[in-house]
Formats: sequence, C-alpha cells, structure tokens
Amino acid sequence: MERTFLAIKPDGVQRGLVGEIIGRFETKGFTLVGLKFLKPSRELAEAHYDVHRERPFFAGLVEFITSGPVVAMVWEGDGVIASARKIIGATNPLNAEPGTIRGDLGVNIGRNIIHGSDAPETAQNEVSLWFKEDELVGWQPDIMRWLH
Ligand code: TYD
Repeated sequence: MERTFLAIKPDGVQRGLVGEIIGRFETKGFTLVGLKFLKPSRELAEAHYDVHRERPFFAGLVEFITSGPVVAMVWEGDGVIASARKIIGATNPLNAEPGTIRGDLGVNIGRNIIHGSDAPETAQNEVSLWFKEDELVGWQPDIMRWLH
C-alpha cells in the first residue's frame, strides 16, 4: 500500500490548525501509520530540503522549519501521494484553490502550513529520513466493529 510523508509546519502548529489538518486526511479515508511531534534539527531540515540547497529561499526555509515544533506524519492509502498533494494545494497559498488546505488556511508562500511528498521516490526518502521502521504502525481500519 502506498505511503506518503506529510508535515504540519511551525505556522500550522502555532495557529492551532493541527486538528483541522489531520481531520482532512482522516475524513478523506487515508490511514495514519506514523505520527510524531518534534522541533526539527538544522541537520534534519537541511536534509529534508536538500533539493533546494542552491535556491535563494533555502536559508529562510530552514530557519522557518526549525523555528518550532512540527507534526511529522506518514499516511497510507491508494494514490495517497498525489491525492495528498491535491488536498494540500499549490505551493503559493495565494494561487491555491479554495477547498485545499493552503487555499483555505494560508496566505504566504514562506508560511504555507504543510509539506507533502511530491512523488513515490521522494515519499520513500522522506519517510525514512523522518521515521525509523519500528515507528510506523500498519493497521486495518475496521469501523463497523466499533459501532455495533
Ligand atoms: P517546493 O518543493 O517547490 O513546494 P511544495 O512545498 O509545494 O512541494 O518548495 C518547498 C518549500 O519552499 C515551499 O513549501 C515553500 C518554500 N518556497 C519558498 O519559500 N519560496 C519559493 O519561491 C518556493 C518555490 C518555495
């Protein structure tokens, strides 16, 4: 089953959006298999954004992502990588469609609330960068069992 890495960035945590954001992926029907709350080290942030190392916004991006706690998550489900990107919306919240997380909740490209892996290979790399294998918990949702 496909897995992706998502992280609620420091602005999302500071603004009290954790429940709202996790709720969107839960109600969509994806399965949470990894979850941790941490203030990322500079080393972790630089490794995570390594592809952007030469970009002018890199230093500010690392500064921002290490500025406070983030919610790091692994979600599982059919097509979850591309679907989560759609649910998140365009990189610049001002261009993101209403109904997406960034479109509904953000205004600033440097403070765009949430990260989501953009492809299968980056998803795999990011999941293993942020989580050890034994921190991921595979499980089968069984809703009817808890209703009756
Ligand atoms: P990117 O991987 O292009 O976007 P996404 O998060 O949608 O996959 O860029 C990573 C982050 O870098 C992005 O979420 C916000 C920041 N960023 C800027 O601050 N300025 C920019 O011009 C770009 C392209 C990104």
